[in-house]
Parts: sequence; structure tokens; C-alpha cells
Amino acid sequence: MKRIVILISGRGSNMEAIVRSCAEQAWPATVAAVVSNRSQAAGLAFAAERGIAAGVVDHRAFASRAEFDAALAAAIDAHAPDLVVLAGFMRILGPEFVRRFEGRLLNIHPSLLPAFPGLHTHRRVLETGCKVSGATVHFVTADLDHGPIVMQSVVPVLPDDTEDSLAARVLATEHRIYPISVDWFIRDRLRIQHGVVQQTEGAAQLLR
Ligand code: GRF
Repeated sequence: MKRIVILISGRGSNMEAIVRSCAEQAWPATVAAVVSNRSQAAGLAFAAERGIAAGVVDHRAFASRAEFDAALAAAIDAHAPDLVVLAGFMRILGPEFVRRFEGRLLNIHPSLLPAFPGLHTHRRVLETGCKVSGATVHFVTADLDHGPIVMQSVVPVLPDDTEDSLAARVLATEHRIYPISVDWFIRDRLRIQHGVVQQTEGAAQLLR
């Protein structure tokens, strides 16, 4: 059984999608813990209801980013994870943290990376007049919202879209591509070669 730790900051809908897929599809894995940097994160209640260890490491309790990162890493390591999943985790993690979990740290970002890293993705997509957008699951590197791409989804940007309508369309695809990506990881079906991720069985890494 592989062990998964999921980090959240808020709603936790991607975390929910992964927890549900793990149970419904009988993955050879268990979500060992959900950790949030915010005690108010709505997703913590869902995790607790499911009997998953739900913890908080509040970034405001630490004088520096490095101290927060170290405390967070210790909280994660207590669950001996094979995989750490960032699911709407809204803190930038330092290079030491990233190095410690390198190769077993995944993130999802609501754009077609490498376009639109960072915040306010959907607003910037609309302002730029892009006709497509999507989401990206990638391995985390020290470079924010970069790193080898596991899977992407693509959705149209419609003429009357608002930030909310576009976000909702993208989010629906996030809930599909993140569980698939995690499933591949825990079944050892991902290989990184020269910075490019290959699904070892040749499964489609694009959802359209
Ligand atoms: C998602 O859009 C994710 O891509 C981004 O933050 C949002 C988190 O949503 N990083 P949720 O907490 O998973 O519902």
C-alpha cells in the first residue's frame, strides 16, 4: 500500500476527488493524512469525516518561511508518504522542502503551463484573449508552477466567460486529471526522461 499525504489551503475539492477515487477504484494506496496551513480550510472537515488524519501547520506561527517549511516537512514525514500531493496549497515552498520530496511531489495548476503560472490565472487568460485554457498536473521543482508535466486538460474559453465560469469549467477537468495522475504515480506508471514525463503504458496524458 502506497501512502499519500495531501496538502490543502481551502475548499479541498481536488483532495476530495482524489480521496473518492482512491476508495471507489480500490487503489493500492491510502490517503494517510491531509495537512492544511489554514485551520479554517473547509477540506479538513471532509478529511476528518472520512477518518483521515487531518492536521494544521499554520504558517503564521513561524518567523520565517524556512521554519514553516521545516515544520510542514516534519508533519508530512510523520506519515511516511510515498507521494505528497499539493491540492490548492497556497504557500510557496522553498528549495530545501522541494528537494526533500523531489520526485514524489505533485501539484495542480489551473492553466496550460508553462503559460500563466502564479495567481489570478483565469483573469489573465481572459485579459489575454486566449481561446483555450485548461489545467496541468506536474512534478514540483524549485521553479514555481514549473516542472515535468504529467497530464493536461484543455477547455474552450467562451466569449461570455467570466473568471468564475472559466474557473468552474477548468475545475471540473482538474477533478478528472488529478486522480488519474495520482493513480499512475502510485502504480509506478510514470517515467521522467530529460524533463518529460512518459506514461509507461502509453495512456493519453491529455484530456480534451
Ligand atoms: C484549484 O483550481 C487548483 O488548481 C488551484 O487552486 C484551486 C484549488 O481548489 N491550485 P480546491 O481547494 O482543490 O477546491
